[in-house]
Amino acid sequence: MKLIHNSGSSADVYHTESCNKKAAKWNRASYEMNYEPSASPLGSETAEETVEGAPQELRIKLDVNAVNADMPVETAITNRTSKKSFSCNALPMSHLAKILYLANGARTKVAEASENMDSNYGAGFNFPSAGGLASTQIDVFVLNVEGVEPGIYRFDRRKHELVLKKKGNFSTWLKEFGILQVEFGDAGAVLILSCDMARLAEKYTIRAYRLGLMDAGHVSENIYLTANALGLCVCATAGFVDSEINSALGFDGLDKCALLALGVGL
Ligand SMILES: Cc1cc2nc3c(=O)[nH]c(=O)nc-3n(C[C@H](O)[C@H](O)[C@H](O)COP(=O)(O)O)c2cc1C
Repeated sequence: MKLIHNSGSSADVYHTESCNKKAAKWNRASYEMNYEPSASPLGSETAEETVEGAPQELRIKLDVNAVNADMPVETAITNRTSKKSFSCNALPMSHLAKILYLANGARTKVAEASENMDSNYGAGFNFPSAGGLASTQIDVFVLNVEGVEPGIYRFDRRKHELVLKKKGNFSTWLKEFGILQVEFGDAGAVLILSCDMARLAEKYTIRAYRLGLMDAGHVSENIYLTANALGLCVCATAGFVDSEINSALGFDGLDKCALLALGVGL
């Protein structure tokens, strides 16, 4: 049952109408100046959701305990800021691992115990979610991360691994096509929070859209607090071209859709 998609409901209309249109980004001059030919086919591809069955050679194990983000919660909250003046220094993999784990990871013991579970329910994640359905997932544009080849990766939150979806440096593509503010293309990594809206709708019908947005908000705050505790620059933006980001990640934009992008870096 997919009540959000194909129903002709006002939620569909709202979602479609509230997308940023390509026209908002379209600037012929900059497009021609920095055009990256390898980026052009990206928009037409619909990558499969490969995370569950992805072969070992596409997987990078993340050490989620290599650094500590052990700032007191009160300090982390009161010191938190948005910063997008990213330097050209590489983001350490340990820092990315910590952010992904604390923001969207299954807790370690559960990750080990639940490798064969086929449901997210009750998995014990580091974030709250409506119905425990864990509707928010993270895909990562790795632009400049120590020891990780640039590309698009899915965070396998149960196994604490990055799963390669597509190789390539998408910094220019993000600046020119994906995100309205160019600064985000200079981040070490851009984390895209997406929602499995169809799954939420099976349980919550028309209220799923509201819940999906709130779920993503909780994950976003975890990213903010962890990044700030680690002394990193972090900034959220909903200012991206939905159709570009969705098709780059293999989402149909309704049942599965990008909701928020966060740039993280030094
Ligand atoms: C949902 C959301 C969308 C945002 N979009 C942008 C954005 O497009 N560009 C930007 O520079 N900052 C963006 N921000 C960051 C806010 O501008 C920032 O949180 C706000 O100015 C308060 O500053 P602070 O986070 O440093 O306290 C966004 C934040 C959130 C939560």
